[in-house]
Amino acid sequence: MKLKDKVALITGSSKGIGAGIAKEYAREGAKVVVNYSSSKDYADRVVNEITRNGGTAIAVQANISKIADIKRLFQEVKSAFGKLDILVNNASVWRYEMLEEVSEETFQLQVTTGLMAHIFCAQQAAAMFGEEGGSIINLSSTVSLNPIPGTLIYTAVKSGVDSLAKTLAKELGPRKIRVNTIAPGMTESEGSTADGRPGSAMEKLFLDRTPLGRIGLPLDIAKVAVFLASDDASWVTGERITVAGGLL
Ligand SMILES: NC(=O)c1ccc[n+]([C@@H]2O[C@H](COP(=O)([O-])OP(=O)(O)OC[C@H]3O[C@@H](n4cnc5c(N)ncnc54)[C@H](OP(=O)(O)O)[C@@H]3O)[C@@H](O)[C@H]2O)c1
Repeated sequence: MKLKDKVALITGSSKGIGAGIAKEYAREGAKVVVNYSSSKDYADRVVNEITRNGGTAIAVQANISKIADIKRLFQEVKSAFGKLDILVNNASVWRYEMLEEVSEETFQLQVTTGLMAHIFCAQQAAAMFGEEGGSIINLSSTVSLNPIPGTLIYTAVKSGVDSLAKTLAKELGPRKIRVNTIAPGMTESEGSTADGRPGSAMEKLFLDRTPLGRIGLPLDIAKVAVFLASDDASWVTGERITVAGGLL
């Protein structure tokens, strides 16, 4: 068990990639905090699956686009488990929109959830990690280096995610806090199903550019998230790992 007795918070882990990471962390021995914003049923389902398999998990509601909610989330982690070792900044929302469709509302939504929350969650985590340090993992996307039309704000957010991990790795390294980024390619999730991707022209475009010839699964991403959180990655910080079947 690579994460035995570690405490991990994964934002937005009621669904998709976050849920996959939560389950895999629990399988590797971590006590897991499953954060969600509104999908309590989904969060409870993830927690029940973990506990049924002998793991430890709790669900905590917090809308991470609000700083007050972020502070409460971390207080609840402390009350439940007394410490934190791993933060996965996973929650994010995206909107497909061309430049003329971008609005203040869609800008705020994507920037607060996808970038601002990463910063304020990292702030709380760094304050809570013990003397042995900790690991912060941020979810970016292949689009941050290889954008597609209609993802202007999302791409800018993910480029910001790439850069903040590099800065934080330097700032927090002396405190033994490692900060790394995972950039998934197209991955099956509730969010990507809800936006109509399965069978779409966009899915075909990504499949054609993916040498390993399939769409990613949450478990593909979770395995790398386990590595980055574990002692196997104790000399790895400030890195961005693409997990996308060869898609660049
Ligand atoms: N799927 C892909 O193809 C893909 C590709 C590259 C990168 N990524 C990145 O991977 C991460 C996960 O994506 P996904 O596809 O697994 O997403 P998803 O299926 O849409 O799930 C999103 C999760 O985030 C939570 N969430 C959304 N807004 C929140 C908020 N304000 N506060 C707290 N939780 C919130 C959702 O919970 P509620 O339902 O309760 O709101 C849900 O658990 C994201 O950062 C995404 O950008 C995904």
